[in-house]
Amino acid sequence: MALKTKFTEVFGVEHPIAQGGMQWVGRAELVAAVANAGALGFLTALTQPTPADLANEIAKTRDLTDKPFGVNLTILPSINPPPYDEYRQVIVDAGIKIVETAGSNPAPHLPMFHDNGIKVLHKCTSVRHAVKAQSLGVDGISIDGFECAGHPGEDDIPGLVLIPAAADQIEIPMVASGGFADARGLVAALALGADGINMGSRFMCTAESPIHQNVKEAIVAGTELDTELIFRPLRNTGRVASNAVSREVVQILNDGGQFEDVKDLVAGVRGNKVYETGDLDAGIWWVGTSMGLINDIPTCGELVSRMVTEAEELITERLGGAVVETVSASR
Ligand SMILES: Cc1cc2nc3c(=O)[nH]c(=O)nc-3n(C[C@H](O)[C@H](O)[C@H](O)COP(=O)(O)O)c2cc1C
Repeated sequence: MALKTKFTEVFGVEHPIAQGGMQWVGRAELVAAVANAGALGFLTALTQPTPADLANEIAKTRDLTDKPFGVNLTILPSINPPPYDEYRQVIVDAGIKIVETAGSNPAPHLPMFHDNGIKVLHKCTSVRHAVKAQSLGVDGISIDGFECAGHPGEDDIPGLVLIPAAADQIEIPMVASGGFADARGLVAALALGADGINMGSRFMCTAESPIHQNVKEAIVAGTELDTELIFRPLRNTGRVASNAVSREVVQILNDGGQFEDVKDLVAGVRGNKVYETGDLDAGIWWVGTSMGLINDIPTCGELVSRMVTEAEELITERLGGAVVETVSASR
């Protein structure tokens, strides 16, 4: 048996499961393992310091898998923006066929991707942005609820409402993101009108994820209560692990501090140190509320096949079994 949806059909992937871009984490080892498991992994372009490094990382991923995979291009407002056009050129030249865009309007990038036969899955956090991206001609939507790791937006609408509200207006394939970590979430997403799911935190806590074992063990030990929302007063909310640094950032900003006052605390290099050294208080590191559902460190293959098998059982047995014939009282 297999779960076939609009998403698996249009994006040419075996299972309706994606691994979204993850700064510092979305590297060749993880993305290849996700691809080999039959799901859709995305390399994170900006984790690579230069466009040439991205070309090398794509080549490295290809050495590890023959299956399709994509590249995430996160476009965020920045004082010194990275050379997005050069990263985009590398993606095209490397023959990548699927891109996940995130962070802002994908319009400037669409013509070049589409002219080169690249399908675009646009990640957003609100129904209005999903509708806008659909009207721009993207090939699929990934919609992140308030539960998610990373940037949940400022509307605070959890997936239980966000996904069906989006499904009412989205006709192209749509994957639900934020808070998904097991078969129950996958089945729920399909029931809510999505064509699959996207997971970050769950894939981050797998054997092949290229981060320190301490971080994986912290995710297993953590609960759904162990995240903080940083940058709320700046209206650029980020959901991260609760630790000494993130709690300090929340405190400073709540007390009226500005970005300048927390800039050093939230520096990306400090965050990367957490993943590299396993020092959980070295900086900010990203994880979602789905931490409360993550209880082990499986291989990507074990994770995906377990989720798909359990989802099929859930649909055919538990849910199918709840539908019973009723006998009319009048007879
Ligand atoms: C460590 C980490 C880093 C992330 N970095 C990015 C990023 O650079 N770009 C992006 O679009 N999303 C990023 N995300 C968000 C994920 O792609 C995904 O949308 C999110 O993790 C889904 O929520 P979940 O963690 O509950 O599965 C990141 C998530 C994590 C856990």
